[in-house]
Amino acid sequence: MSERHLFLRACWREDVERTPVWLMRQAGRYMQAYQEVRQRHSFLEMCKNPKLAAQVTLQPVERLGVDAAIIFSDILVLVEAMGMRLEFHEGFGPKLGEPVRSMQDVERLRVPDAEKDLAYVMEAIRLVREKLRGRVPLIGFSGAPFTLASYVIEGRGSRTFRFTKEMMFSQPEAFHALMEKITSAVIDYLNAQVRAGAQALQVFDSWVGCLAPEDYERYVMPHMRRLFSRVEARGEVPVIHFANQAATFLEKVRHAGGDVIGVDWRIPLDEAWRRVGYDVAIQGNLDPIALFAPLPEIERRVRDVLERAGSRPGHIFNLGHGVHKDTPEEKVAALVKMVKRLSAR
Ligand code: CP3
Repeated sequence: MSERHLFLRACWREDVERTPVWLMRQAGRYMQAYQEVRQRHSFLEMCKNPKLAAQVTLQPVERLGVDAAIIFSDILVLVEAMGMRLEFHEGFGPKLGEPVRSMQDVERLRVPDAEKDLAYVMEAIRLVREKLRGRVPLIGFSGAPFTLASYVIEGRGSRTFRFTKEMMFSQPEAFHALMEKITSAVIDYLNAQVRAGAQALQVFDSWVGCLAPEDYERYVMPHMRRLFSRVEARGEVPVIHFANQAATFLEKVRHAGGDVIGVDWRIPLDEAWRRVGYDVAIQGNLDPIALFAPLPEIERRVRDVLERAGSRPGHIFNLGHGVHKDTPEEKVAALVKMVKRLSAR
């Protein structure tokens, strides 16, 4: 296609006829069509079977009319490829084998060859590109090093990140060594996704908001800067940097890198954009739980986000975090229609 897609143009802050919209976790349990596949296969089976992953990736494109697809997978398959056992238990979330708590544990992990060890992701990307036939661009993704490190160290999700911070504060060398290893794995993984056909990338730093600004700067930012400087095809494949709950250190997030900064709903979009600077694009930031409200209230909030973005080019509409699994599907469909209607220039 010679004409660049709406979503990609917005990532590069070019003029658009309306605001593009896609949703984090747009393929998932809130959707009837997803549930039908999920009833017959485990979540990891779906991730590892390129045909199923491709099928589910396309569901929100076909049913909701979103302006981008995001490859169906999980951030933790990379950690599995690094040598950790990975399981998903119903209603519990992810669970990993032997947590990493020392330098010796870090040495046990390997930097995978994404092309080979995560071949099923690359195959799913190629399949989706084929089936999309240029309708909308495909986003590849990875967890950010800190978010992945927190799973590797805790062995599961956490509220306090007690073990992660303990390692950071008492064994900084081991922590940095772990971050460095994970960062190398992420760089190779993202570059492999671009070679397979990903047209944009998103880096999810879902748990980084547990950190004090100073600790972000010291323990995370240098690794993020290396990551963004080493993702190839820059200038052609935009990279979205989503840092959840990071409003207190947004300037540092911006400094870490990314062509688009993704923000959650805890900060007004106009304030976030002013702070990161108008020379990057911005993505966000409706509270996902707003989708449980009646339509007029949703519309009021969508208008508010759009007004805060103003007429400036470079806004991509999204939620401030993933779609909640109990969200009524018709509300999600209504949201996408609403953004398209209300943002038409
Ligand atoms: O956005 C998309 O539609 C692409 C698919 C996607 C999934 N996970 C599918 C998924 C993406 C981009 C992710 C990223 C991911 N995974 C993140 C970062 C984004 C975020 O939400 O902060 C994180 C932290 C994970 C780890 C993870 N995977 C958790 C905590 C869980 C359990 C959540 C729960 O509600 O049980 C998962 C499982 C998961 N990942 C599901 C889906 C559709 C649900 C699996 C199921 O069907 O049972």
